[in-house]
Amino acid sequence: MIRTTILGLGSYVPERIVTNDEIPFLNDQHERCDEQQTETNDAWIRTRTGIEQRHYVDNDKDVRTSDLGVEAAKAALADAGLEAKDIDCIILGTLSPDIHFPGTAVFVQSKLGIDGERGCACYDIRQQCSGFVYGLEMADAFIRTGKYEKILLIGAEVHSHSLDYSTRGRDVMVLFGDGAGAMILGKEESDDERSGVIYTSAGADGSGAMNLYLKVFDIGKRPYVWYDANDREQNEIKYPQMNGKRVFLQAVRNMVVSTNEALAKTGLTWDDIDWFVPHQANLRINEAVAEYAEIPRDKCLNSIMWYGNTTAATVPLTIDHWRREGKVKKGDLICSTVFGAGFTWGTAIFRL
Ligand code: UT7
Repeated sequence: MIRTTILGLGSYVPERIVTNDEIPFLNDQHERCDEQQTETNDAWIRTRTGIEQRHYVDNDKDVRTSDLGVEAAKAALADAGLEAKDIDCIILGTLSPDIHFPGTAVFVQSKLGIDGERGCACYDIRQQCSGFVYGLEMADAFIRTGKYEKILLIGAEVHSHSLDYSTRGRDVMVLFGDGAGAMILGKEESDDERSGVIYTSAGADGSGAMNLYLKVFDIGKRPYVWYDANDREQNEIKYPQMNGKRVFLQAVRNMVVSTNEALAKTGLTWDDIDWFVPHQANLRINEAVAEYAEIPRDKCLNSIMWYGNTTAATVPLTIDHWRREGKVKKGDLICSTVFGAGFTWGTAIFRL
């Protein structure tokens, strides 16, 4: 029986670190100023979110989401002992694409030097914070059916260029960071139901769509993108808008249900699973999920403290972070549950 196996893992964050103390001093180009620009502070951010710092791309260079994706992809390929030309499909999740279209996966393909007339399939998926688990479900289905043999799955984001650095946008702005993570998925012949990708699920509730959105592109507008720099109200379309409390509650609820369902359907228990790696939106969300789903605290891995919310990249970034720290090891059984805009959610259980 064909099963999906994880051949490699990699991640990348830009060098620039922005601490909570620096955040109030950033202008709308995220440049450091002498004067405080935004009413926020380390104590608020730390206690409400768990975040201590995040990484941003430099704003004096043309670094795009695809560039971060390429760095993570190279690390994952090296980890797998493969070259880019071995890949026959790229799946990329992001909410911060390089441009509106074409999708970002084709830019990654080109930057990896595997474009051309016989270039591999490139998929972009738009499931925000749930992007990586949605992508994993897709990759698993492609491999099991024999459609593709070596898939590069990427979650990558450059948030720093599209945040509202004024006090108006502080609730969203302080949460996000730039980064990318990647996995290489391949096939193995095995009847062991506890090897490779064991379980995936994905769900969505479109009634929550307008609780977290960015309307910079709006098909209802003529032309689609309309913007008056002098009109403060119209400025809002440039930035993500969020009903934080509703998103928080739905995140906890859906992540608990999705995780419990995954265990019930696979027959696995927390004794079998080595690590719970939830999406990194807010440490308080993850602590509540662990409490309600009765997940042993020493099995919960977080990284939001150092990277903030990197949306589609959080799951591979967190696993790779803790692998570098020597905690996560090849062969460990991981359960990842995600929740994001849409609303969308999902759970995956896999052996690294
Ligand atoms: O990845 C999936 C998407 N995102 C999420 O899952 C995020 C979900 N939501 C959250 O994490 C939380 O709702 C937030 C962290 C966004 C906000 O935390 P909260 O505990 O729900 O705070 P709040 O919105 O109730 O705001 C409390 C106060 C307000 O002031 P008043 O009205 O009480 O005077 C806010 O204006 O905190 C104020 N506030 C801030 N103060 C300092 C909001 N943002 C900030 C800030 N710094 N950055």
